[in-house]
Amino acid sequence: MAKFPLFEKYAGLKKHVPWMSLAALPTPVAKLDNLGKMVGHHNLWIKRDDKSSDIYGGNKVRKLEFILADALRRGCKWVITYGGIGTNHGLATTIHARRLGLKTALVLIRQPLTDHVQENLLLDHHFGAEIHYAPSNLRGALQTAGIYLRHGKVYFIPPGGSSVLGSLGYVNAALELKKQIDDGLLPEPEYIFCALGSKGTLAGLMLGTRLSGMKTKVVGVRVAMEWVTDTHKTVRLINRLVSLMRKYDKEVPPLKFTMDDLMITHDFLGAEYGAVTQEGEQALDLMERTEGIRLDLTYTAKTMAAMLDFIKKHPEVGKTPILFWDTYNSVDLTDLIRKKHDHAVLPRTLQWCFQDNLITGLKDIDTEF
Ligand SMILES: Cc1ncc(COP(=O)(O)O)c(C=O)c1O
Repeated sequence: MAKFPLFEKYAGLKKHVPWMSLAALPTPVAKLDNLGKMVGHHNLWIKRDDKSSDIYGGNKVRKLEFILADALRRGCKWVITYGGIGTNHGLATTIHARRLGLKTALVLIRQPLTDHVQENLLLDHHFGAEIHYAPSNLRGALQTAGIYLRHGKVYFIPPGGSSVLGSLGYVNAALELKKQIDDGLLPEPEYIFCALGSKGTLAGLMLGTRLSGMKTKVVGVRVAMEWVTDTHKTVRLINRLVSLMRKYDKEVPPLKFTMDDLMITHDFLGAEYGAVTQEGEQALDLMERTEGIRLDLTYTAKTMAAMLDFIKKHPEVGKTPILFWDTYNSVDLTDLIRKKHDHAVLPRTLQWCFQDNLITGLKDIDTEF
């Protein structure tokens, strides 16, 4: 098994922190030559966390390695988590929990409808999630209570998997990147751009880059409403990560992060979480044409749009290395639902999502399966 940089650097954590291998690590790094030529910046790089698993990748797998290990250690048979109706986190949890014999209950809230939302709902069902739609906070709370009553020992996973434990996955990710830099696979980036949703990715990367002695600035591109991404809570999450790590290994320095350490751009969200933006669509299209890499419109396309805008507005960054952290899964599972799909199996409360068929290729398919 490949070495896990977090435990190599801080052996005390290895003894105490629940963790199991689910991801294919290290994820590759590559230079974005074609994109670079197109936008006139010849030092663009990508960290391909889209390839973090050949079952279902993206940024959630790194978090789930800690979270699901903890659920198993506590003897839970079920996990519960939350998100929008198109949540990637909910799908990743369902798929990886199932590998370990754990069942997943999802409590989902409204977000703008897209083909991706429909696909993820069908895939949630395909992989055995118990799906609940919560049109209000009260309904969400009642559904949660019902899930706990029915299933007994249920493990709670916060939205996006951004518990302190889950966010350790991105401290490790930054240490992994440092090893790749030391191995000469890429230069140390001056900037890393990553999506900022439930905060765990940014929090972990900020701490991990600091712990590994990198000078890199991590820029979070806000893709969710401010009450979700909350900058104070982001700082608190980083400081809680430091506390957790120091509890088990005093080699971890007593770092204290403040609001001044954050670099967040707020300009690429659009109307709301999950809303399609023009800049996002253009970035997605450009990335696909130049590099053949598929982004998503909710997170990674907005992040790429922010990075390209930054390069355009800051010619002084010249040839300085900039890294795009790809957090979107690239394993295409849509064949599973294109071939065999019946949205009637989803809860009645979610049937409104399928009034129009948004998934290309579904129209001609017999849905009688
Ligand atoms: C594809 C993708 N990128 C980025 C994020 C945001 O990461 P975080 O929730 O850790 O801020 C998510 C969260 O669901 C995601 O699905």
